[in-house]
Amino acid sequence: MEKVRIGVIGVGGMGYAHCKSVKLIENAELTCVSDVDENVAKERGEEFGVKYFTDYKDLIKSGLCDAVIVATPHWFHPEISIFAFENGLHVLSEKPIAVKVSDADKMIEAAKKSGKVFSIMFQRRTEPVFKKAIEIVKSGKIGEIQKAVCIDPWYRTQAYYDSGIWRATWVGEGGGVIINQAPHTIDLFTQLAGLPKKIEAKTRAKLHDIEVEDEVSAFLEYENGAWGWYYTSTCEPVGPFHLEITGDKGKLIIRGSTLTFYSFEYPISEFTKKAPDMWASLKYTEEKIEITSNVETGHIVIIKNFVRAILYGEELIVKGEEGLNSVEFLNACILSGKKEKPVELPVNRKEYDELMEELKKSSKPKKVVRVQRITDPNIAKKI
Ligand SMILES: NC(=O)c1ccc[n+]([C@@H]2O[C@H](COP(=O)([O-])OP(=O)(O)OC[C@H]3O[C@@H](n4cnc5c(N)ncnc54)[C@H](O)[C@@H]3O)[C@@H](O)[C@H]2O)c1
Repeated sequence: MEKVRIGVIGVGGMGYAHCKSVKLIENAELTCVSDVDENVAKERGEEFGVKYFTDYKDLIKSGLCDAVIVATPHWFHPEISIFAFENGLHVLSEKPIAVKVSDADKMIEAAKKSGKVFSIMFQRRTEPVFKKAIEIVKSGKIGEIQKAVCIDPWYRTQAYYDSGIWRATWVGEGGGVIINQAPHTIDLFTQLAGLPKKIEAKTRAKLHDIEVEDEVSAFLEYENGAWGWYYTSTCEPVGPFHLEITGDKGKLIIRGSTLTFYSFEYPISEFTKKAPDMWASLKYTEEKIEITSNVETGHIVIIKNFVRAILYGEELIVKGEEGLNSVEFLNACILSGKKEKPVELPVNRKEYDELMEELKKSSKPKKVVRVQRITDPNIAKKI
C-alpha cells in the first residue's frame, strides 16, 4: 500500500476540518465521507469530489477505504469504530473515545481482536510543552508524586450550547464541559500524574441553561496517598489552564505554553526528617524550559502519525487504549457529583450504565436550537 485511503464519518464541524487535513497529507487519500445529514454529506462529497454516504455502514462496507476517521457526536464513536474494526478497517476516533467506560472497554477489545491501528485525536499531545513535561516525569526527575493540580477554565456562550440538538444533553452528549472540552487536558493530566484511585466531585450547571454540568470541582486521591485537585468550567473567560505536579524530588508547573521545572536539592521526604536546623528550607533550582515553537502540531500531526503507523508501523502518539483514562476520570466525576459520594476507580461499569440510563430518561428536548456548524476558529486557522 502506498497511500492510505481514508473515509471520514461525521463531516459537520470537526470532521470537515479533518477532510481538509487529509487532503494535505502526501501518503493519504480522502476517498469518501459520510453524514446522517444528507445535505452535509452531499455538500462535502461534492466539495472534495468523493463518494458520499448517509449510512456509515455503507461507507465502511464500500471497499473504498482502508481507514476511517470518526468525528460524529461522542455516543456514536464506539458503535462506528467497532463496526469498522469488524470490517477490517483502521480507526482514528475523535475524543472522547466513548461516553461510558463500558463502551470504551468494548471498543478497545474490538481493536485488539482486529489487530488494526487504533488512535485517538488527542492533538494536544503534539505540543512541545507536553512532550517535554512527559519526558521529565518519565525520566524520574520528579520522583514519587506528592500532589497534582489541574485547573482548566474554558468559556462558551449560551449560543454555543444552542448550536446543535445533541450538545449539552444527556441523550446527545452524555455530559457537559467534562466530556466535551475537558478530555484533552484530562488526558495530559493523567499522562503526567496517573489516574487517581478515588475521586470526590461536585458538578453543576452554574451559568448556562443546560441540563448537564458547566462546572466541575473534584478532590483526588492517588494510590500512594497523594492528594490532588481538579477544576473545569465553561464559565470563565480568562485562561490559561494550570497544571502542577509535585513529586518528592521536583515540581513541574505548566501554564498555557510555559513550562517551569523545580529540582529539589534533596528529596522532600529525606530532608524534612534529617535537616537539623529548625528553620532550614529545602533549596531548589528553577529552570524555565525552552520550548521549540517551530514544530508542526495539532490534528494534522495525529493524522499523519496514524497514516505512518498503518503504512510503516510507526509508534502511535496516542494509542487507542490510552483513551480509557480520560473516560474513567470523567465518568468518576459525573458519578460522584450525581450520587454525592466518593467514587473508586476503575469506575463500576454497571453503576455507571444505570446512572446514564436514568439521566437519559430525564433528558428533555431542547427548546432553543439554532443549528450552526462552524469549526472553532482557533482550530480552523491552524489547518
Ligand atoms: N479534537 C478536537 O479538537 C475536537 C474539536 C471539536 C470537536 N471534537 C469532537 O468531534 C466530534 C464532533 O463534534 P463537532 O463539533 O464536529 O460536531 P458537529 O455537530 O459540528 O458535527 C457532527 C456531525 O456528525 C453527524 N452525525 C451525527 N451522527 C452521525 C452518524 N451516526 N453517522 C454519521 N454522521 C453523524 C452530524 O450530522 C454532524 O454533521 C465530537 O465527539 C467532539 O468531541 C474534537
